[in-house]
Amino acid sequence: MEKFEKFDFQRIPVPLLSWYQKSKRSLPWRENPTPYRVWVSEIMLQQTRVEAVKEYFLRFMNVLPGVEALAVCEEEKLLKLWEGLGYYSRVRNMQKAAKVLVGVYGGEFPRDIEALKDLPGIGSYTAGAIASIAFGLPVAAVDGNVFRVAARLEENPTRISDPKYRKYLEETLSAVYPKDGENCSAFTQSLFELGALVCKPQNPDCAVCPLKGLCRAYAHGTQSLFPVMPEKKAKRQEKVYVFLIETPQGFCIRRREEGVLRGLNEFPSAVIEEGISPENVLNEWGVYEFTEISRRKYVHIFTHIRWDITCIWIRTDSAPFDAYALDEIEESISLPTAFKQCLGILKEV
Ligand code: ADE
Repeated sequence: MEKFEKFDFQRIPVPLLSWYQKSKRSLPWRENPTPYRVWVSEIMLQQTRVEAVKEYFLRFMNVLPGVEALAVCEEEKLLKLWEGLGYYSRVRNMQKAAKVLVGVYGGEFPRDIEALKDLPGIGSYTAGAIASIAFGLPVAAVDGNVFRVAARLEENPTRISDPKYRKYLEETLSAVYPKDGENCSAFTQSLFELGALVCKPQNPDCAVCPLKGLCRAYAHGTQSLFPVMPEKKAKRQEKVYVFLIETPQGFCIRRREEGVLRGLNEFPSAVIEEGISPENVLNEWGVYEFTEISRRKYVHIFTHIRWDITCIWIRTDSAPFDAYALDEIEESISLPTAFKQCLGILKEV
């Protein structure tokens, strides 16, 4: 950790909790915050905006209202519920964790931070959120919002990717948690809420901030310098052909065997190697006679990779892979967004 002057976090719960009571949004997972509901919402919120998560959350709760239902849910149905949220390993890990919860803990969540962290896909952030929001335990949950609020308050020059910084913040914040459970729950959420509504990454609304009198970044006008973000790595670029292979039985879909999105469904695709034409790829799959209907380019950005997609719609008589009718694809087959967007090409002609 870089050197800086320690800040007295003990001063924040009172003003922050009072602001939260007046300003909090009404969000579906805030009603009846059981450990299961907190867990599902926090996993969904890890990479996705609150507005987008609401609908996914409600649907998920309708179909899988508890740990038992999640533990036995058929994989394809589960992936369909997650379709569009991305980072599918999150939902796979959730199912693994649900099986442990049913098998080892009788379907209940352990009220213990270390036991929570031992579950698949549950790191210190999610464990802290469940422990504090659902169980009212004095345990911090440090996400990007919390890093931002805390780093600005104390003008902490440490990069947020430094694991010692996370540990320091978890310990420092946990030490100032309120003494009663209800307020522990509210304190965690008030930090998220301040980060989301006021202490925003760009153009923070300092005028309405309940902590502005304490905030060093506000006093010095240095808000934009904190938190210090990880150094950005350049994304690897891949050029990819995605084929919409239309046959009398429908469109071909297969399971990805390797690379990003491994184990998920795709429209048959191939990374474009130097000198390889679409025809070469189709021939390799045993497709020799086909008519090209149209092609279109798309971009899809993953965390570490950028895909420049050339989507090619062809018609052929014999399907090289399993084929499905379009309504079936839209209604009951899960397809990652990288591929789903290619369906746009069908509406253009
Ligand atoms: N961001 C992360 N967790 C959140 C939560 N529980 N409510 C609102 N925003 C969040």
